[in-house]
Amino acid sequence: MTQRLALIQLLIALTVANPAFCQGLAQDAISCLGCHQKVLEEEYKHVAAVKNCMNCHKSNGNAHPAEGIKGFTLLAETPGLCYSCHEKIKTGSEGARYPHPVMTSGKNCLVCHSPHASSEKKLLLVSETKLCLGCHNKSVSAENKPIQNIRQIATSNTYTHGMISKTGCSGCHMPHGSPNPFILAGSYQEGIYTSVNKENFLVCFTCHKSELLLEENTTTATAFRNGSKNLHYLHIQGSKTRKCVSCHNVHGAMNTRLIAEKISFGKWEMPIQFRILDKGGSCAPGCHAEKIYKR
Ligand code: HEC
Ligand code: HEC
Ligand code: HEC
Ligand code: HEC
Ligand code: HEC
Ligand code: HEC
Ligand code: HEC
Ligand code: HEC
Repeated sequence: MTQRLALIQLLIALTVANPAFCQGLAQDAISCLGCHQKVLEEEYKHVAAVKNCMNCHKSNGNAHPAEGIKGFTLLAETPGLCYSCHEKIKTGSEGARYPHPVMTSGKNCLVCHSPHASSEKKLLLVSETKLCLGCHNKSVSAENKPIQNIRQIATSNTYTHGMISKTGCSGCHMPHGSPNPFILAGSYQEGIYTSVNKENFLVCFTCHKSELLLEENTTTATAFRNGSKNLHYLHIQGSKTRKCVSCHNVHGAMNTRLIAEKISFGKWEMPIQFRILDKGGSCAPGCHAEKIYKR
């Protein structure tokens, strides 16, 4: 009786939220929910599951429920099951220049998403940061490049990139795969040396103003300047240019402004020795004696 009441309440709530709901609701979903209301209990519900459980489940002919005997199989295995409706995700993952290996291994989609409902947006099983750091909690020596322990960097440093606490990791990364290295959400140049060009760092300039890099002289665009000489511009130009992560550890750092403690030059880890000063700062890396800038 209480189950029936809960079901009616759910149906009313769904119908109020979306008047077209009742029409789209198949008989199957109603009969399944009589016993399985739990699968749609959480706040964010998968449209496919609200509409019809049989979008993904198929009876195998057995009486249901029957203890120890499965009544249902899935129409297909994931990720194929999901791709049947989410074609775009398929192109963005399997077709990606830089794939995220989780998409094709283990429980793939179900490592991160609930097929039914969740208390997190986008049907994520847990908050995005937790989800990502759940796997990225160790360093890995991958084939061509080592992968750092991001969990340690993002949680044990004094300063964490603003975005990680706000939106998690997808402000900068594409969880399914990307046309950019490190599955980044905007273009990004790999390697230490690159050229001064907004296009090389679009992943940063979706949020930060590109003037902090591009204006050779400025008294406003960046605090990293000596008088009006833009030191971002100075460092990232010419033939020996550096990319943002040469100086900033974007996931987290002990220094303010996310300044890294070391720059790596191939196998050599060179300390930066950054200090923030009144209206300026100083650093003493191996490539030059201590230098001070003042605004
Ligand atoms: C009369 C209550 C009842 C109804 C109606 C019902 N189920 Fe179930 N279902 C159960 C119970 C109880 C279990 C757990 C059985 C077990 O633990 O072995 C279960 C288990 C399942 C499972 C996992 C095991 C299996 O059998 O594959 C799936 C999937 C499932 N149900 C889907 C559905 C779908 C889809 C519908 C609607 C077409 C539905 N159920 C209708 C009671 C019900
Ligand atoms: C988008 C596809 C999809 C839809 C739609 C869907 N399911 Fe499922 N369901 C799955 C998948 C995939 C699993 C296996 C989950 C796993 O292995 O972790 C599953 C597992 C289950 C299970 C057993 C395990 C559990 O989570 O309790 C039940 C019961 C179930 N579904 C019921 C339902 C009911 C009831 C509906 C309709 C309200 C429904 N499902 C709609 C994909 C779907
Ligand atoms: C029968 C078609 C269908 C299948 C199969 C299906 N989906 Fe969906 N899914 C939808 C629809 C429709 C939406 C809502 C689309 C929208 O809002 O743009 C949706 C939305 C989503 C969303 C976004 C939810 C949100 O809050 O924005 C996620 C994540 C998702 N599906 C994951 C999956 C996963 C994982 C699977 C496989 C287990 C799957 N889907 C299988 C139809 C389907
Ligand atoms: C590593 C974790 C992870 C895996 C694995 C994963 N996703 Fe996602 N997915 C996410 C995150 C995080 C978001 C939210 C991204 C955002 O808000 O920009 C998301 C968003 C989505 C959306 C909503 C897209 C939109 O634009 O709103 C769909 C649909 C989706 N995923 C489907 C899938 C399917 C299908 C699979 C398996 C083929 C899958 N995901 C595998 C993490 C994952
Ligand atoms: C189930 C485990 C798992 C989860 C969850 C997961 N990843 Fe990964 N990720 C991997 C594996 C495996 C690799 C390949 C490298 C490795 O072995 O660590 C990888 C690689 C990466 C890379 C490096 C790609 C490259 O080309 O160098 C980035 C960036 C990344 N993941 C970000 C994320 C983000 C962001 C999330 C959350 C949306 C996430 N990961 C969730 C397992 C996971
Ligand atoms: C502000 C943008 C930004 C945010 C937010 C961000 N990342 Fe990254 N991430 C990057 C950049 C840029 C790189 C490439 C660094 C490089 O060139 O070595 C990267 C690289 C990685 C790598 C590859 C690591 C390696 O050592 O090569 C992993 C794994 C990763 N990020 C995971 C995460 C996870 C998990 C989160 C969320 C907790 C996250 N990132 C949030 C920008 C970001
Ligand atoms: C999705 C938006 C977003 C993206 C993309 C992004 N950032 Fe940020 N960044 C922020 C926010 C928000 C803050 C926090 C600002 C604040 O606290 O005033 C921040 C802070 C910073 C800081 C510290 C500034 C300070 O005053 O302490 C640095 C350095 C930084 N970002 C570098 C980068 C780099 C390098 C990239 C590209 C790899 C990048 N960001 C990409 C949003 C973003
Ligand atoms: C040579 C080292 C170095 C490089 C390379 C570098 N930065 Fe910085 N950046 C700094 C220093 C030092 C500060 C702190 C300035 C201050 O507050 O005194 C800073 C500050 C910032 C800030 C805070 C706002 C501001 O401009 O004062 C952002 C955002 C930022 N950098 C983004 C970037 C991006 C994006 C890149 C790559 C295009 C980059 N940085 C490359 C050293 C560097």
